[in-house]
Amino acid sequence: MTAVAQREGVGAPTTGVHPPHISVVVPTYNERDNIDELLARLVAAVPAETELIFVDDSSDDTVEAIHAAAERLDVAVTVHHRPEAVGGLGGAVVEGLRRAQGTWVVVMDADLQHPPDLVPQLVAAGDDADADLVVASRYVDGGNRDGLANAYRRVVSQGSTLLAKSMFGRTLAGVTDPMSGFFAVRATSLDAATLRPLGYKILLELMVRTKPRRIVEVPFAFGSRFAGESKSSLKEGLRFLRHLAILRLGKSQLRMLGYAAVGVSGVLPNLVTLQVLTAVFGVHYLTAAVIANQVAIGWNFVLTDKLIFRSRRQRSLLARLGQFAVLGNVDLVARIPLLALLVGELGLGYLSGTAVTLLVMFAIRFFVLDRLVYVR
Ligand code: GDD
Ligand code: MN
Repeated sequence: MTAVAQREGVGAPTTGVHPPHISVVVPTYNERDNIDELLARLVAAVPAETELIFVDDSSDDTVEAIHAAAERLDVAVTVHHRPEAVGGLGGAVVEGLRRAQGTWVVVMDADLQHPPDLVPQLVAAGDDADADLVVASRYVDGGNRDGLANAYRRVVSQGSTLLAKSMFGRTLAGVTDPMSGFFAVRATSLDAATLRPLGYKILLELMVRTKPRRIVEVPFAFGSRFAGESKSSLKEGLRFLRHLAILRLGKSQLRMLGYAAVGVSGVLPNLVTLQVLTAVFGVHYLTAAVIANQVAIGWNFVLTDKLIFRSRRQRSLLARLGQFAVLGNVDLVARIPLLALLVGELGLGYLSGTAVTLLVMFAIRFFVLDRLVYVR
């Protein structure tokens, strides 16, 4: 749903003739009580032709609040409400970047932790330095992070900055605040189609994937929230770690690594079952081994299905489980003959032979799961 209110002055629609110098993109998720103040301060701060874009995933009446405030202030705004919050905060920002028509796009939060009067300064700094990206930083001289509510948030913020810097040292060199949610980007330097946003850290995504040519920082005081509550959570924290891993490794490599980890973890239920069946129930060790293998397959299936291929569960549960079980048991009939071949015919030691067969089976299973079971 997109609605454009047609008005003169700030935010006047500029489709056609000349693009605005600045577009402001504000992601909103249940921010109804911040809208009045935000919009009033924005309108007071930015040049008249500035384009104002809200990308909303709210379940409350934030959209109505935006329209009401725009009416009161007599400005035009674009409000795009997304039916599904794909990619969370970052997904919303990228949607805004796609829609923005300005030479510069400024991204900022709705809760007034990012001072609206800084918007023109960010853009001016970018123009002066002929930069592609201007980061509003809490960590350069003159900036502060007083708005980080408590010690816990401060530690998390500092920790994630360190982690990101250690993983992407070269790209982030000279940038003190890659976790900032307040920045200005030159539209021509940006191909939004290359972005794969996942959660909060959209600036990091942008820097790692688009490698801006010249970056400058402007200090800012990270204020406290005007109204409402932060939407960040432990779940967002985990999403951030996954985001980092995907940025570093790529999605399919991460998947393969995860699948390998699941496989290794399956050794535990396998051994426990084997032990219980033989020692407690007196089952013959070969029978016990076959049963233990099934238990491990069940374990691996649950983890693989829930964690590794969660987004690609097109087939029915029964089909997935059935195919997974077949793949798991191929081991019993295919790996042992392969081992015999490697050791008997090719003269490999049985330990290295076993290692080779395990790796080969791992690769085959992953390939079949990736291509045939969890279809895209
Ligand atoms: N559309 C949309 N969809 N907006 C969202 C979503 C979402 O899923 N999640 C959060 N937002 C919006 C909020 O409504 C707000 O305008 C902005 O994104 C920031 O959300 P907060 O919940 O206020 O985040 P924060 O204050 O904890 O974190 C901010 O500061 C961090 C630095 O400490 C963000 O700017 C982070 O990006 C930044 O790293
Ligand atoms: Mn906030």
